[in-house]
Amino acid sequence: MRSDNSQVYGTVSRILHWSMALCFGFMLYTGLAGEDTFRALLPYHKSVGAILMVLIIVRTIWAIINRKNRPAPANIFVTLGHFALYLLMIAVPTIALLRQYGAARGPLEVFGVKVMEAAAEKIEWTVELAGALHGELAWALFALTAGHIVMAIYHQIKGDKILNRMAH
Ligand code: HEM
Ligand code: HEM
Repeated sequence: MRSDNSQVYGTVSRILHWSMALCFGFMLYTGLAGEDTFRALLPYHKSVGAILMVLIIVRTIWAIINRKNRPAPANIFVTLGHFALYLLMIAVPTIALLRQYGAARGPLEVFGVKVMEAAAEKIEWTVELAGALHGELAWALFALTAGHIVMAIYHQIKGDKILNRMAH
């Protein structure tokens, strides 16, 4: 087990980064699938989304604890970009889970296991909030992630070896 240090991200940070990247890949797939496929995959969309909610909480706490011993960002744009990724990774599932509760349409199940009851009566604002923002912010997150991946590959090719901080 390697810890975070000024040169590389450690084992825990890498496990969080790559397992979440995989989950986000699945979320993107469900989002891009047509209406029928999306409906069919919705229980899995919710399950993986709820797992992502837990992972992002752990990741945020981990990032705060280790903020002093991580590779220094190259410039303010990297810092802002990573910060925006965190904000969106937190906001997107939070908003969806609020709606899940407030819609009062039955409990949330994660791969068949009940993890959260629904409200007894509909809470209008949670449904409206998610209707307005869940999908929109998710697309913003995916767009930002695409930029993140392009920049990571670009810097790797340029010779900054940035990927070695998160892989190798
Ligand atoms: C970080 C995790 C999540 C991501 C990236 C994500 C992403 C998305 C995307 C891209 C869409 C399609 C929007 C569109 O058609 O334009 C969507 C829709 C939806 N998601 Fe999520 N989602 C996440 C978590 C969740 C969770 C935890 C739940 C519920 C427990 C959920 C429930 C829904 C529902 C019901 C829809 C269809 C209605 C709507 O578009 O708002 N999602 N999500
Ligand atoms: C093929 C996909 C991906 C590649 C190649 C990749 C590559 C990298 C690399 C090389 C770093 C270290 C950058 C540095 O220290 O300056 C990094 C960090 C980071 N990546 Fe990714 N990434 C990928 C997917 C994702 C996804 C899907 C997300 C979130 C939606 C994400 C969020 C982050 C964040 C927030 C950091 C900052 C370190 C942290 O706090 O975890 N990455 N990524």
